[in-house]
Amino acid sequence: MEKRTIPNHIAVIMDGNGRWAKSRLLPRTAGHLAGFDKFVDLVKSCDDLGIKYLTVYAFSTENASRGSDEVSALFSLAAKAVGGYESKLMARNIRGVVVGDIDMAGEKLAETIRGCEERLASNTGMTLCIAFCYGGRKEIISAINKAIKNGEAELTEEAFSRYLYTAGIPDPDLIIRTSGEIRLSNFLLYQSAYSELYFTDVLWPDFDKAQLEKAIDDYSGRKRRYGR
Ligand code: IPE
Ligand code: IPE
Ligand code: MG
Repeated sequence: MEKRTIPNHIAVIMDGNGRWAKSRLLPRTAGHLAGFDKFVDLVKSCDDLGIKYLTVYAFSTENASRGSDEVSALFSLAAKAVGGYESKLMARNIRGVVVGDIDMAGEKLAETIRGCEERLASNTGMTLCIAFCYGGRKEIISAINKAIKNGEAELTEEAFSRYLYTAGIPDPDLIIRTSGEIRLSNFLLYQSAYSELYFTDVLWPDFDKAQLEKAIDDYSGRKRRYGR
């Protein structure tokens, strides 16, 4: 096998919780709970492998139009996660960043998220970026509007990227999507220009460290040309 190249930034579209639950005759929320455990494992694995940036797609702007039961279950899982998981991130010196229009989650949860983000902001280890209430198109439009408000007349790519939610975070080298869907679903549209894409049929709650290493090994064999 070729030498393993550890990507600087891995982004993951954690998809397939609902189908995982359905195949076990469980409610979709049980799939989200199992998916959350796998997210916790993923953070650990990436940190142990020396990955510098990990971004996960936790909730899209479009996911808000799911049934209100599922949306509120996802939001209360997020609230619980923010409360219970922060100390573990702190112990690993993980820097937390949330990207998205978190006000969509309601004032209370948005405030909780902001507080947690602030407390984790000055950590110096791996950056964990959580895309929550995130939409790539919304991010681009919001960047343009911020630039206009700031009186910008013309922007370079570099200046533009500073108006994105992901300001200061390098583009993802590898984007992994589970559950067999071969699409980006509005994830990091601007930032994924030259990302390597990896799709697997494994459903998110079944995605373990061995699966992660398989994706990284596949990435290691890629020849990135950037058009040259
Ligand atoms: C991904 O799993 C989690 C979220 C989108 C919040 P899904 O809920 O999309 O699961 P499937 O795709 O229906 O199986
Ligand atoms: C993408 O999955 C969003 C997340 C994983 C959070 P979806 O399940 O929402 O995507 P579609 O609907 O299959 O495109
Ligand atoms: Mg899905």
